[in-house]
This record gives sequence, C-alpha cells and structure tokens, in this order.
Amino acid sequence: QALKARIRQLLKEKNAVLVAHYYVDGDLQDLAEETGGCVSDSLEMARFGRSHEAQTLVVAGVRFMGETAKILSPEKRILMPDLDATCSLDLGCSTDEFTAFCDAHPDRTVVVYANTSAAVKARADWMVTSSIGLDIVKHLHEQGKKILWAPDKHLGGYIQKQTGADMLLWQGSCLVHDEFKGVELELLRKEYPKALILVHPESPEAVVAQADVIGSTSQLIAAVQSSDAKEFIVATDNGILHKMRMAAPGKIFIDAPTAGNSATCKSCAHCPWMAMNGLQNLLQVLETGSNEIHIDPAIGKKAVVCIDRMLDFAA
Ligand code: MLT
Repeated sequence: QALKARIRQLLKEKNAVLVAHYYVDGDLQDLAEETGGCVSDSLEMARFGRSHEAQTLVVAGVRFMGETAKILSPEKRILMPDLDATCSLDLGCSTDEFTAFCDAHPDRTVVVYANTSAAVKARADWMVTSSIGLDIVKHLHEQGKKILWAPDKHLGGYIQKQTGADMLLWQGSCLVHDEFKGVELELLRKEYPKALILVHPESPEAVVAQADVIGSTSQLIAAVQSSDAKEFIVATDNGILHKMRMAAPGKIFIDAPTAGNSATCKSCAHCPWMAMNGLQNLLQVLETGSNEIHIDPAIGKKAVVCIDRMLDFAA
C-alpha cells in the first residue's frame, strides 16, 4: 500500500501518466485506472498516449508499446519499468531479414503487426493491432492489394481465411499463444459443456477452430460483458483475467490448456516479459527517470507513417 501511495504521489509530482496493457499485473492495471491513466490493448494505448497532455508516459507493457508511444509522441518522455521486456514476435522478425523479404516482393503492400521493432515499422505501409487487423486487410483486399504480412503466422492465417486476401506470411508466433493446444481444449470443453470459448487469433488454427468468440483482448472483454454465459474458457494471456473478473463479477474463468492434459496445466499462459513489470521497478523509474525509450528520429519519422494510417483508419 505504501508503495502504491508513493507511486500515485510521484505520478502527480512528475506530471506523468501510467499506460498499462491488459496483460500486466493486476496491481499495475488498477493503479493506471485509479490515477487517470489507461488500461487497454495496444491500439488504445497508442491513442491514449498521444492525446494525453502529460509530458511523461510510463508504459507498463512490452518494449514495442513504449517504442510506439515514442514514435507517436517524440516530444514526450517515455519510461518503462523494464527495458528488457521484449516480445517473441518482435525478436523473431529482425530488420535485415524482414527488409530482404520485402525487397523480394516489391509488388506487395507491407502490413505489420504492432508487435515489431521501430525499424520494421519504418519499412511497412501499414501497422495493425489485433483489434483492427481484420478490417484493414479486408479494406486492402477490396482495393485489390496483395499483402505481405508479418510477423504472426497464426493471426495472418486467420485473417487470410476470413478475408480471402492474397497474403504472404512471415512465420513468427507469440510464445504464449502458440502453446495453446487443440486436443486438450476439446477435452476441457467436455468438462465444461456450458462454457463459452474465447480465443485470441494469435493462437494455433486448431484452437481458433473451436472458438465461440475470436478477438483481441478488448473484443474478448466486451464479449464477457455482453454474454449471458456464466463460464468462459479463455485462450489468451491470463493477465486478462483481472479485467474480465472486474467486468463480470461472479462469472467463472478457466485458462485454456497450454500443454499436456488440461487437469495438469493451470495458469500456464502468461508472457514472461509482461511479467517483468512490477510495482518496484515502476517506482524506481518514477524516482530516477531511468529506463527512457529513445528512437532514432530518422526511423521514427518513417515508422510513424504506418501507425498514422492505422489511427486514421480507426478514427
Ligand atoms: C494488443 O493489441 O494489445 C495485443 O495484440 C493483444 C490484444 O489486444 O489482442
């Protein structure tokens, strides 16, 4: 409690605002909400950070989220609790390999997921998040565009199937979602026949195929709120359960199985990098001003174009 009180005080003193992702620790989500910050997905984090008047944004999430905030607001100071909090999708899509991939397919419109480095975004025509990727690809497909998609192969494959777009896919995956298992999910469904199955499209096809609702974090939370169901099996990072429990008190949430048999795997689905955000390191960056995100201005200037396209489309 003392720690939280000190963080609240420092946020005020430093004219800083806390922007937290749904996958970080519940304490941080609560603090962001209580102090006038935001708890959301990466699309909303980007929008909120840019429009907020605070000169310092503290981004509790993974590195590309802090970088996106800096690209959108180069004049602001962006701090993160741990600069080593990265993302397997970002790590699996190096600038050199990605550039070669794009160069080999110059006829394609380059669409990248938010979960990429600033340099990769600088090479893209569009950036998308999971809440808007389907709509943007549909729009491009209707314009007759052929697409080069990176880096998540599952999300890309899902969007390709839904839209019928011509998409060349980079073969990346999220280390958390990639672990959800179709066969074990089928067994779990039998144990909870009334449960609604909520699946994030970064999950493998065999898992997505069993979903009652497929969507981004914000879309899955909305489904929990609007549904009459009492039980939900959730296939995404279990950091989201904090918000789901608040949104629908009294309802039951069950982690989708990630390995082996469902009875032996509880709470396995949590991103180790999201977990690097805590109250202690949040306090430390507020006290010291350390862990600032810097982006090469030349790269930032190029990268902002694909992010702005998405934000304009979403507006
Ligand atoms: C994001 O956009 O923040 C992540 O893809 C998770 C999600 O919201 O679906």
